[in-house]
Amino acid sequence: MTDKNIDDVSGVETTGHEWDGITELDNPMPRWWLWSYYISVIWAIGCWIAMPAWPLVSDYTRGLLGYSQRAQLSDEIAAVKAGQADLVARTAKASLAEIKSDPELLEYALAGGRSAFSVNCSQCHGSGASGSDGYPNLNDDDWLWGGTLEAIHTTIQYGIRSDHDDSRTNDMPAFGTDEILNPQQVDAVSDYILALSGADGVADSLPGKAIFVENCVDCHGPKGIGNQELGAPNLRDHIWLYQGGKAMTVDIITNSRAGMMPDWADRLDQVTVKQLAVYVHSLGGGE
Ligand code: HEC
Ligand code: HEC
Repeated sequence: MTDKNIDDVSGVETTGHEWDGITELDNPMPRWWLWSYYISVIWAIGCWIAMPAWPLVSDYTRGLLGYSQRAQLSDEIAAVKAGQADLVARTAKASLAEIKSDPELLEYALAGGRSAFSVNCSQCHGSGASGSDGYPNLNDDDWLWGGTLEAIHTTIQYGIRSDHDDSRTNDMPAFGTDEILNPQQVDAVSDYILALSGADGVADSLPGKAIFVENCVDCHGPKGIGNQELGAPNLRDHIWLYQGGKAMTVDIITNSRAGMMPDWADRLDQVTVKQLAVYVHSLGGGE
């Protein structure tokens, strides 16, 4: 008897393992499988040498090809930037009106403006620029400080009540806390301005009218339609920066409000500020 175990049925050598009468044949690996295996091993070693592979204590083996996804990404970014350099240069030179009338610059400005808006402006104005209490909706055609391209550009550049020297600024007096008006007068003038946006003529008969004429027209205008030079809202158009309603108007007349919008001239480059102005102007309500 040899020390090899041969299976009686197939005539193939067995491994000698047996479970409940079932023996394991010791067939050789298929040749194609073995070769694939050897090739994978050689390929893997090649990769270790050519590509970044093994972590070291504070670095890693960099591979002979010097490949890095980071380098590849910065190459791709550089290529895109080079492609845009011409558009950037033309935007920098063009006036806002020229950007608006050049389809290529306009498309570039709208795309750039939209992405700069979502990064810098949407926290306050909302992702669709529809605003919220105290933060104006930029989609409607009601503008505090003007809705022309130039006016919007100036607002974005210098901000509103911001730290910038050229900031737009104008403060409504706190008529109640500064004791310019007593609570009854505040109440009366509040009824008057709420009536301004109601049926024509009703407001004229209210006692608050005289208080309005005496205290409010310098900024909000004799008819209450506001003044964009002064950032004073139109009080007749049903569009309220601060919700509207009796309790809110009484509070605003008593305590005043001073909405603050940051300046961007020193934070964003000029091309981006122009793109933002064109984008905001395009939102639907530009003048
Ligand atoms: C920190 C909050 C804040 C951020 C960020 C902000 N804004 Fe404003 N923005 C305001 C407020 C508040 C006002 C209204 C100020 C007021 O009461 O007069 C305003 C007003 C404006 C106006 C004037 C609207 C009008 O009716 O005249 C424009 C245009 C504007 N923002 C554009 C932008 C753009 C573009 C950005 C991004 C670059 C931006 N804002 C970022 C708070 C913000
Ligand atoms: C010196 C200018 C000035 C005077 C005078 C003034 N306002 Fe204003 N008023 C403003 C400005 C500016 C705002 C916007 C405040 C802001 O943007 O945060 C405003 C806002 C308001 C609002 C909020 C409007 C909204 O859309 O939510 C009401 C209401 C209002 N004023 C009523 C009055 C009344 C009533 C008087 C007179 C008793 C008066 N104001 C006098 C400048 C003025």
